[in-house]
Parts: sequence; structure tokens; C-alpha cells
Amino acid sequence: MPLTSMTISMTTDEFERMRKVVYDRSGIHFQDAKKYVMESRLSRRLEELEMTSFSQYISFLTMGPYQKDEFQEMFNRITINETSFFRNQPQLDVFEKRVLPQLLESRKESKRIRLWSAACSTGEEPYTLAMIMHRTLGLRMPDWHIEILGTDISERCLLAAQKGSYTSFSFRSVDPLVQQRYFKQEGNLFHLNDEIKQMVNFELHNLRDTLAAKRHGMWDAIMCRNVMIYFDDEMKTSCVQMFYDQLTIDGTLFIGHSENLRGMDIPFHQMPIPQSFAYTKETTGSLK
Ligand SMILES: C[S@@+](CC[C@H](N)C(=O)[O-])C[C@H]1O[C@@H](n2cnc3c(N)ncnc32)[C@H](O)[C@@H]1O
Repeated sequence: MPLTSMTISMTTDEFERMRKVVYDRSGIHFQDAKKYVMESRLSRRLEELEMTSFSQYISFLTMGPYQKDEFQEMFNRITINETSFFRNQPQLDVFEKRVLPQLLESRKESKRIRLWSAACSTGEEPYTLAMIMHRTLGLRMPDWHIEILGTDISERCLLAAQKGSYTSFSFRSVDPLVQQRYFKQEGNLFHLNDEIKQMVNFELHNLRDTLAAKRHGMWDAIMCRNVMIYFDDEMKTSCVQMFYDQLTIDGTLFIGHSENLRGMDIPFHQMPIPQSFAYTKETTGSLK
């Protein structure tokens, strides 16, 4: 076992083949300039497998009995899973103070609200939605049926999400009072309370799989933030079309602050509220 890790070099041809595998499976597009990122992130994996070239690794990844497991392993190494509780507070304020009150009004008969956090990483985003729902509904909570789903392509992330235990790094943008209210500290870890944990379900879901998304039914709000930046235009458009199809008529899509839907022929309307990065199917009321 080597003590220090050496970068195994990847030829241009190997890079082309690797990025095709990654793209075909996940929609993530590695630009030419990102070859070194793939090379350096996967070199350690090749060493662990005692392989000396990326060609060997590509065969292992695409043929034979370990494809599925190795895809997960490879994916864990090449993706960015960065997230945090209450990430982008101004956008969440739009959800809490503008979108949610309208939803509560329009769903007052059915008392059913469905929220999907797509590409949720280690769970901070869907749990944030759960905390917002919890503090908004307060004593009315038992009367409502709130369904929150967190999905991601990474099994490792979803396992961490299900545990619901976090280090202080996940609380970079959290009001300490919220942290105290919903978490119990034990050493370096903060454990989320069961009431909030039980509000969220997690499932493996690849955004490339638009058919699987249909099985989940319709959502009142979808949050898909900070993942489409890694997709090419074709994959982005197919995701956004799928979100459009899976949103209720008065539903809202929230995307990341560095993402946009420019150039897509999908009839979403951007909410004219600064920092909202939110899109609706119809333009109604004072929100739009
Ligand atoms: C930077 S994190 C974003 C987490 C969270 N949405 C946020 O904004 O804080 C991106 C996540 O997208 C996931 N991801 C990448 N490609 C995906 C795909 N094709 N389908 C589902 N999830 C994917 C990664 O595993 C990673 O957890």
C-alpha cells in the first residue's frame, strides 16, 4: 500500500471515454478543462484497486459484475456534495413568506402539501424545508399531511441524510436558535430531533431518469439547487421539462442562485422577486 498517492495520468482518449460513461449515467458533463479534476479525484481509487491505467478502470466500470457498485464509488469521488442547512436564506424567505402562505390557503381543504428536494446531498435541504413547515404550522401540524422527499444519485449521501447527525460545518448559515431548537449536541455532532426527521423520506433517484420521476406524482414545490450547473444544456432542459410536468398548476420550482433557465422552450415564469430564483407555471396574483 503506497504511503503517498500519485496521480495516474489519463490519456485524452481515456478522458473522452470516462466522460461519456459519466455523462450517460448521470448527465454530468466534464468540460475539457476539468480533465485534471477527474484524473486527480479518481487516481486514488485506481490505486486502491491496484490498477495502473484508466483503460483498466473503464473496463471494470462498464463490464463485469461490479458495475453498479463501482459506479456509486466513482460517483462519490467525482461529485461535489456541498450543502448546508438554510442555504441561501433570502430564497428560503421567498418560499416561507410568499409561496407557502398561498399554498396553505389553496390546500386548506385537502390539507396536503408535497415538497421535493431533488439532488439533496446529505439531507440539509429537505430537513430545512421540514423545519420551515414545522415552525409555520405549529400546533396545526397534526391536521396537515406534509410529504417531503429528498432524492440524490449518491447512496453514501442518502445514508448520511437518514442518520440526521451533522457537524458544525452544516450550520454555516443557521440562526443559533434554530439549531438549539431542532438539534441535540453530543460531542462534535448535532443530532436532528425525531419529529423533523420523520417528516422527510429519502430515495435514490437519478435526475437522468425522467420516467422514475413520474412515479413520484405531482409536487407543490420542487427545489433543485446547485446541481444543474454540472449538466450540459440537453440534460438541463430534460430535467427542467420533467420538473414542469411534475409540478401542480400553482407549483413552484426553486433553482440555485448561479443557475438559470435561459434558452429553454419551457413555459415557466420567473418570479419577479430579487433573490427568489423561483419559477411558476402560471402568472397569478401579486406574486408574479
Ligand atoms: C452541490 S450538491 C447540492 C445539494 C443541495 N441541493 C444544495 O443546494 O445545497 C449536488 C448534489 O447533486 C447530486 N447529483 C449529481 N448528479 C445527479 C443526478 N444525475 N441525479 C441526482 N442527483 C445528482 C450529487 O450527488 C450532489 O449530492
